[in-house]
Amino acid sequence: MDALSLLIADHNRVRGLFARFTAAEEEENVPEMATLAQKIITELEIHTTIEEEIFYPEIKAADEEIKDTVDEGVEEHHVAKTLIGEVKLLTPDDDAWAAKLKVLIESVEHHAGEEEEEMFPMVRKAFDKAALEDMGARLEALKAQLGAPVAADKEHLTTDELKKLATEQEIPGRSSMSREELVATVAPA
Ligand SMILES: [Fe+2]
Ligand SMILES: [Fe+2]
Repeated sequence: MDALSLLIADHNRVRGLFARFTAAEEEENVPEMATLAQKIITELEIHTTIEEEIFYPEIKAADEEIKDTVDEGVEEHHVAKTLIGEVKLLTPDDDAWAAKLKVLIESVEHHAGEEEEEMFPMVRKAFDKAALEDMGARLEALKAQLGAPVAADKEHLTTDELKKLATEQEIPGRSSMSREELVATVAPA
């Protein structure tokens, strides 16, 4: 899978977690919020790491405009990591815990949107298909090394099972995803 599709799959998986966290908050289901918060933090830590270790350094060398979006992206990651660090010092019964998670969610939604709408289209133009596939393979390898689920962990699932998981996980855009996109996006059950 190419690097951009892989990163977008990560974004959509975490968007599903955000939707579920927001719903759990409306229901005041604190245990569910706590479970989802842990998943959100793990996803974001892995995603920012693979972007910063592999994707950002490689794309920023391509041209000045991409470099500017990477510099902004690094600062947005910094904001997310700071909030994550603060959330970890709190417990769900603290009022600031949910407030910080809500700000984290809003800021990551904005950041992921900017990557997809501004950065990724420029990267798509600057790199050929083979280069993006190669980068995707290295991102996937680093995810595996960090202990995150990768496509190979989900290939055994039937398309119906993948669709069911995507629905449970509230993955946005799931109805128009190919099997390959579903495999990349869903979290294993
Ligand atoms: Fe990012
Ligand atoms: Fe991203």
